[in-house]
Amino acid sequence: MNWKNLLILCWIMVIGSEGLEILKKRLPDAILIGAKKSGTRALLTFISIHPNVSAANPEIHFFDKYYHLGIDWYRSQMPFATQNQIVIEKTPKYLVDPKVAQRVYNMNKNVKLIVILRNPISRAISEFVQTQWKQKRNIFDVEEQARRFNRMLYQNRRGNLTIRKNWSVIRNGIYVKHVKNWLKYFPLESFIFINGDNLVRNPHQEMKKLQEFLAIKPIITERNFVMTTQKRGFPCIRLKPGSDRIKCLNDQKGRPHPKINPSVFQDLDQFYKPFNKEFFELIDQEPFW
Ligand code: A3P
Repeated sequence: MNWKNLLILCWIMVIGSEGLEILKKRLPDAILIGAKKSGTRALLTFISIHPNVSAANPEIHFFDKYYHLGIDWYRSQMPFATQNQIVIEKTPKYLVDPKVAQRVYNMNKNVKLIVILRNPISRAISEFVQTQWKQKRNIFDVEEQARRFNRMLYQNRRGNLTIRKNWSVIRNGIYVKHVKNWLKYFPLESFIFINGDNLVRNPHQEMKKLQEFLAIKPIITERNFVMTTQKRGFPCIRLKPGSDRIKCLNDQKGRPHPKINPSVFQDLDQFYKPFNKEFFELIDQEPFW
């Protein structure tokens, strides 16, 4: 064996608590399927510090965009993991793309599905802000952003202003519609529903639920979280309790939101109310918001 092969072999073997462990690329055991702008990056960042988790950092988009590249390509995009680790990938588009659920089922009908959800009104505003940044439109003028949001939100139907529910920013928050499609393939027990609003307020509570669902030791606790001046209003995570090594999300997460007019807020509240009600009945849980 030449030195190059030896180096590669050393690279894929690590000394773990149970002796020598082989690192391999495997298909995911759990997938974070959405919802977009609900705290998916924060959740993945937090769970990634767990020693029994190996998470793919970029969004892979296999089941929605790159399915034609085949399952071996998908596997090659996964991080190296030991047998004692759970492999996770996140692509928030999966929740809302109707072809994905069946494709995931065909890969592994026992895969664990992680869904994080936030109040659909703040989720919509967050997605709208993101699109404005992408288009580099008056990004610092929040009042102009609020006006743009209103212009996009309403449509004129024979003299009546109604909410444009086909606007993806609005449609993506009709959670009941998207989850119903997933429930055609997976039982409710395959899912965990994380409260994205509470992940900001009480991250340890949501992490407790997630660790339980993944059947890993609940080692991420309240002592891991810290509020810093670096990320105002959002928790960062200590890599170990008591450690000074802290990870915060980057500037693209936690952007300022435009102030939405109270009457617009009320219209959105009325719009989402029946969908939210149906959603919480469907998943048999108390409403999160
Ligand atoms: P805003 O930037 O609109 O505030 P995603 O990662 O799914 O795109 O979600 C982005 C949202 O995650 C952010 O939306 C922010 O509100 C939320 N978030 C939750 N916890 C966070 C944290 N610890 N740090 C930064 N953003 C967090």
